Amino acid sequence: MLKLNQTASMIDRRRFLSHLAELARFGADELGGVSRTGFSEADHAARRYLCERSRMLRLRATVDAAGNLFIGRREADRDRPVLLFGSHLDSVVHGGRLDGAYGVVAALETLARLDERDGSFAYEPVAVAFANEEGAEFGYPFFGSKAMVGPIEHAERLVDSAGLPLRDALRAAGGDIDALSSAVWPAGRLGGFLELHIEQGPVLQRAGVPLGLVEAITGRHIFEITLTGEQNHAGTTPMDDRHDALVAGARLTLAIEDIARVRRLCAVSTVGRFDVRPNVTNVIPGAVTLTVEIRDGSLDRLANAERAVLAAVAALGPGIDARVDVRMRAAPVRTDHRLSAAITDAAAEHGLPVLTMHSGAGHDAQIVAAAGPVGMIFVPSRDGISHSPREHTEPEHLLAGADVLLTTVRRLLEGADR
Ligand code: GLV
Ligand code: MN
Ligand code: MN
Repeated sequence: MLKLNQTASMIDRRRFLSHLAELARFGADELGGVSRTGFSEADHAARRYLCERSRMLRLRATVDAAGNLFIGRREADRDRPVLLFGSHLDSVVHGGRLDGAYGVVAALETLARLDERDGSFAYEPVAVAFANEEGAEFGYPFFGSKAMVGPIEHAERLVDSAGLPLRDALRAAGGDIDALSSAVWPAGRLGGFLELHIEQGPVLQRAGVPLGLVEAITGRHIFEITLTGEQNHAGTTPMDDRHDALVAGARLTLAIEDIARVRRLCAVSTVGRFDVRPNVTNVIPGAVTLTVEIRDGSLDRLANAERAVLAAVAALGPGIDARVDVRMRAAPVRTDHRLSAAITDAAAEHGLPVLTMHSGAGHDAQIVAAAGPVGMIFVPSRDGISHSPREHTEPEHLLAGADVLLTTVRRLLEGADR
């Protein structure tokens, strides 16, 4: 059991946990997890639910052109810089109920606990649910936060795996692809962004520490690679005459794994998606499309690992054509000292120990960092498991993290950190 300082401000325990449980119904899947990909029906329903909850709490919900959902006070002061806090509501396929949603519910509950007694807040507090952070569909991770900091290129070309254009999906979410530039925040509007998230790794549980203070977030490059060989008959084509795209893709997959595991050129390297065409037993595969992700905390190492990916593609040899599309390059970022100090002070106020650590997962915070200072708080993930229905965090840790978010926000609004 965590020993909490009972005099520090706390969120409403029962309401917070029931709110989180209710949200998990949207996209609940047969594996006991959540499949709520960005801009899906389940995602729309979860967002509508959040809007309803906001209205019940006498807060105002608005959606920008990129589908980002902002929740603010009715009496918001638009001249003040914004202190933004939140995360995302979308999930991967067969993900857990906490990745993203935890930070959004905590943000809403934080906002509901703030009351400006003397009109002296240093910032305007606003909660956010960023659109399509995972990019599990439409192939564009961090869509909403990217739209907040700059132009989105070729948005009109994005479609989901069923062929639905982003244009239509975005409209259904209350956004507008033709007005995406209106989602970009002007310089100076963002006073700071705080993201509370489950760790998604084993560090905090192993250390037996209830809170993580993130000092840096990993960089991440994503490529979509299509290899084209020659589709032919699996019974009649001699082995020496084949141009099998699946075999080439399998070789490439092993080479990609080696880039991190054996050659140590970056922290991790993953082939996460692998589509085979035509995917039929008695046909030599004519084409495959796979995704490659490399992650590291150093830009130079990422650039070097990227060269190794391209060299591995080139080494596949004749008979296989390769097309490499860069899907995303997100640079590693460091969090802000002042926001981190506010988080540390808030944790101390609650009597909670904190471990300073890196994030190997990507987060909207690393994108928002282009527009202003960011800070991140982690809570432990059981057995370090995430992006899985088995994702779990003990309620006492969820509550402790939400309390620290609330206290950090209070301290920043009241200028207690200055
Ligand atoms: C975000 O979920 C990531 O893939 O790190
Ligand atoms: Mn995730
Ligand atoms: Mn997340």
